[in-house]
Amino acid sequence: MQGRICLVTGATSGIGKATAMALARLGAAVILVCRDAARGREVARDIRAATRSQAIDVLVADLSLQSEVRRLAADFARQHGRLDVLINNAGAMFPQRAESAEGIEMTLAVNHLAPFLLTNLLLDQLRAAGHGRVVNVNSDEHEKGRVDFDDLQMRRGYPRRGIGMRAYGNAKLANLLTTYELARRLRDSGVTANAVHPGYVATNILPFDKASGPVRMLKPFWHAARYVILSSEQGAATPVYLAASPDVGNLSGLYFQNRAPIASSAASRDPELQRRMWDISEQLTAG
Ligand SMILES: NC(=O)c1ccc[n+]([C@@H]2O[C@H](COP(=O)([O-])OP(=O)(O)OC[C@H]3O[C@@H](n4cnc5c(N)ncnc54)[C@H](OP(=O)(O)O)[C@@H]3O)[C@@H](O)[C@H]2O)c1
Repeated sequence: MQGRICLVTGATSGIGKATAMALARLGAAVILVCRDAARGREVARDIRAATRSQAIDVLVADLSLQSEVRRLAADFARQHGRLDVLINNAGAMFPQRAESAEGIEMTLAVNHLAPFLLTNLLLDQLRAAGHGRVVNVNSDEHEKGRVDFDDLQMRRGYPRRGIGMRAYGNAKLANLLTTYELARRLRDSGVTANAVHPGYVATNILPFDKASGPVRMLKPFWHAARYVILSSEQGAATPVYLAASPDVGNLSGLYFQNRAPIASSAASRDPELQRRMWDISEQLTAG
């Protein structure tokens, strides 16, 4: 990865931090996208110290806001003429329905519309790399996702209890549908787009602290489970493989787990749904 430029979102924690660390070890120049500048600087320091690489930079953006996604893309484009790898890793769950300051439901904003918009804004730089790769960190929760084009932002039926899993599954399905559509649109461009389920990884992704109702009682089990499920480093293995391995340089429009393509849900593979999700995502990010 020497000389390659990689942008990793959600690099302050979990899979994103481990991915950035691994790519730096492989010699890539890594740009960490973080919403908190101080934490970003701290992670950059950790990665420089662990890898002895000086090619670690930080860009700051709250990805729930499209205005910040646009500023992020502009900041990147000012500094770099090309992008070899874009890893859309940042993700979040919201136990209570909330909207961003721009009026977009938060789960959809962070898990789907942010990577959708960021990728589209950076396509020129990915094309300029000649062999650009887009890696979308998805989830097997997409299998439980549903598409309701009349209520994509779940104004109706957002569960009052729980940790926001239903909205998360829906947003991950939207992300996967548009990953496939992107791969189709980029056919013959040299740029690839793939998605990955990282496995069950001990990170900060489950917001038990903000949940209400009986689901809070699961918190101790999650803490216990953290010792037996994957580490962040193990969770980063497939994203890093998709970013770096020559074996997958020409593969696009696939969903990976454990470094191998697997079948995603039937709904995610429906071309009509993919096209419609693309169109509505364009409308929702039109600015
Ligand atoms: N862990 C699992 O078992 C699992 C399973 C399937 C899929 N995934 C996916 O893996 C990806 C990484 O998650 P993780 O498990 O590593 O969770 P994590 O430890 O919670 O990390 C999530 C990252 O996303 C960032 N982020 C969240 N909201 C953001 C926003 N509005 N703007 C900018 N950055 C934001 C977080 O920043 P802060 O540090 O500032 O909060 C953090 O760096 C996610 O896409 C998740 O859906 C995880």
